[in-house]
Amino acid sequence: MVAFPTETVYGLGASVFDPRAVARVFEVKARPSFDPLIAHVADAEAVSRVATTADPRVARLGARFWPGPLTLVLPRLPSVPDLVTAGLETVGVRVPDHPAARALIREAGTPLAAPSANPFGYVSPTTAAHVAEQLGEGVDLILDGGPCRVGLESTILGLTVEPPCLLRPGAVSREDLESALGQTIELAGPTDRPTAPGQLLRHYATRTPLTILTGHAGAPPFGAGRVGLLAFAHAPKGASYAAVEVLAPDGQGTTAAANLFAALRRLDALGLDILLAEPCPETGIGRAIMDRLRRCAAPRP
Ligand code: TXA
Ligand code: MG
Repeated sequence: MVAFPTETVYGLGASVFDPRAVARVFEVKARPSFDPLIAHVADAEAVSRVATTADPRVARLGARFWPGPLTLVLPRLPSVPDLVTAGLETVGVRVPDHPAARALIREAGTPLAAPSANPFGYVSPTTAAHVAEQLGEGVDLILDGGPCRVGLESTILGLTVEPPCLLRPGAVSREDLESALGQTIELAGPTDRPTAPGQLLRHYATRTPLTILTGHAGAPPFGAGRVGLLAFAHAPKGASYAAVEVLAPDGQGTTAAANLFAALRRLDALGLDILLAEPCPETGIGRAIMDRLRRCAAPRP
């Protein structure tokens, strides 16, 4: 079991075909077994080691987006253990765009089943230090590839349903997929039902309660205690927040995405009473950022 960098977030990898190693991944993350893992392969040809690739859209999307932050949900091969797919007849698979990830997969000689390397439900790790802080004791080895370039988990597209279904927004946008496919795709809504894996309403969550503002931040609310602010492009002038993180001084969504999880972790570490987050424009990767913030802000059980 090895934690490794990808262009999206750090993963916690085990051989897809070694159920004991995969079981340890679930254990270390305290992840419920109904939540299936993504198989990571070194190149598009290797997708056929875990899934059926007869659908011509696999080759088309692979040529356009792999290596990169796109996961396809495809019919699985019988050789993939149930633990990886949570008993589903489908498997999620992607080719990560990170030299260390691909070298690791090649050297291991096997596809790697890898969830994000964080305790279940918490914010995903975008540095090796994030992994070490939370899972360090339980992980055999952490490969340090520096901060993740994208910073948000991969886009997940279900190709075993018609029309194809966007299960998780990410850096590859719905528009990118629709133009590559020449067809419209459907959006899956978040749910709290475990029959819809990976779509949990509350996920990617800080311990400190978080609320999304309706516009730019002004002064912190009176009597709210120590308030942390996640600002989008600049800090509000003269406002007395206990801490402020600015996600994108350049105003770019891609910059905000790359900084989001590290900023949430820094704010969460301060033990504040509440966190407020400015909304970001919901275009391109901004939709994926808002998706993660909404799940973080979802009501606590
Ligand atoms: O960017 C990423 O995808 C990162 C890096 C490490 O590659 N991995 C990642 O894995 O985010 P994880 O396990 O945190 O999230 C994968 C999501 C899960 O929530 C799971 O439910 C969904 O993908 N998923 C996996 N296989 C699926 C399937 N067969 N059908 C539907 N959803 C699936
Ligand atoms: Mg995860």
